[in-house]
Amino acid sequence: MKCSTLKPFPADFLWGASTSAYQVEGANLEDNKGPSVQDIKKVPEGTSELDVCADHYHRYKEDIALMAEMGFKEYRFSVAWTRILPEGTGKINPKGIAFYDDLINTCLQYKIEPIITIFHFDLPAALNEKGGWSRRESVDEFVEYCRILYGHFGDRVKYWLTINEQNMLAMLGDALGTSRPAAGTNRLKQIYQDNHHMLLAQAKAMKLLHKMLPGAKVGPAPNISLIYPKTCKPADILAAQNFNAIRNWLYLDMAVWGIYNPLVLSWLEQNDALPEILPGDMEIMKEAKPDFIAFNYYGTSTVEASDGTEKDISDPSARGGRIGAPGMYAFTKNGTLPLSPFGWEIDPEGFRATLREIYSRYHLPMIVTENGLGAYDRLEEDGSVHDDYRIDYLREHIRQMRLAITDGCEVFGYSPWSAIDLVSTHEGVVKRYGFIYVNRDEFDLKDLKRYRKDSFYWYKKVIASNGEDL
Ligand code: BG6
Repeated sequence: MKCSTLKPFPADFLWGASTSAYQVEGANLEDNKGPSVQDIKKVPEGTSELDVCADHYHRYKEDIALMAEMGFKEYRFSVAWTRILPEGTGKINPKGIAFYDDLINTCLQYKIEPIITIFHFDLPAALNEKGGWSRRESVDEFVEYCRILYGHFGDRVKYWLTINEQNMLAMLGDALGTSRPAAGTNRLKQIYQDNHHMLLAQAKAMKLLHKMLPGAKVGPAPNISLIYPKTCKPADILAAQNFNAIRNWLYLDMAVWGIYNPLVLSWLEQNDALPEILPGDMEIMKEAKPDFIAFNYYGTSTVEASDGTEKDISDPSARGGRIGAPGMYAFTKNGTLPLSPFGWEIDPEGFRATLREIYSRYHLPMIVTENGLGAYDRLEEDGSVHDDYRIDYLREHIRQMRLAITDGCEVFGYSPWSAIDLVSTHEGVVKRYGFIYVNRDEFDLKDLKRYRKDSFYWYKKVIASNGEDL
């Protein structure tokens, strides 16, 4: 659709940015924090450990002041489960509560809305040791952790996100450092059993939030991006439908409607990988209702028909090699899209298409909780960082988001990745995303001083004009 008049961003639009605890905080075993799976994983060769990161744990006041200077209306961060419960369950760590109390209060002091991600890739190591999400108990462990967060922070936090990118946890656990060794021969079954427990944990967490905090809102936070067929051959269209179902709709169909996407169920059945669903599970899934959909978007993917052989299993061009599904789809390059310095396809129009698709399926308000460009930045001698490539990326995505709003989509916030430089999931410190530069290298911590990038000043202007001045 060509639009001659653009609708404005809503007056109370939530502009801000995101981080996650294990990637930004550092102090990973300080003040009684217990280890998470991120602290015990073997980091990829040539990349930094996650013990210092951006040292946000000690510098959050300075960081939030910089966010306020940019005009942030919200800051999305995650709570490290093992700061609150070092063992994952049991005794609460008062220092962990105190840290997030003050972080929230600092945000509020600047009139920045805190948006909490409850769980972002950092399962307590103690629970992982016991079998992590494969155990039915994991559902209640997660819900108990949520109860503590709601009880302590619910008087001030209105927006809650359940699980960050559950779909990436299922599909890319190896790259994210969250996979457990395969417990048997049927890895697919194991993955989707864990996944079922997480879906159930999420449903219970949403129900509990509505009970405990009637004024607050909660939503899932998967990574959603539309899947394109390579050609208009019917077999490629079917392959795109397959991957859309496995990657995207499985998670939102369950969160919003409380049903298993039928295509996915059938695929799991064909592979003897159906999860065990206990009586009552599906009632809980149905009763739980999100208030909004949060989603992360970086770029679309393209697939073609799969001939069912092993060659279709992975996509070596994607992070960690994406896991495919023989007989369902095979990854392929789009061929029309530019690539980021780290080889990710850049597709702003795909962002508009994704927003339209989500909204037309679920009719819920949406907030974009990640979007951004990982790139090598250079700190100049005068303290400037000229990241025009990042500005271009964000500008084009914001333009497309506005077009989606003009198309009729309800979007109430934009929280790109990331507020400040942090450590990437598996590509180290050199892959930077932030508006704020952190002066450190992969292994040399330097002085960790903060510098404003060109994108910092640009985003400030965007926020001040409510998205009019791009
Ligand atoms: C999202 C995650 O998938 O992508 C973040 O929620 C992550 O944790 C971000 O950092 C960018 O990915 P990467 O691999 O470049 O760090």
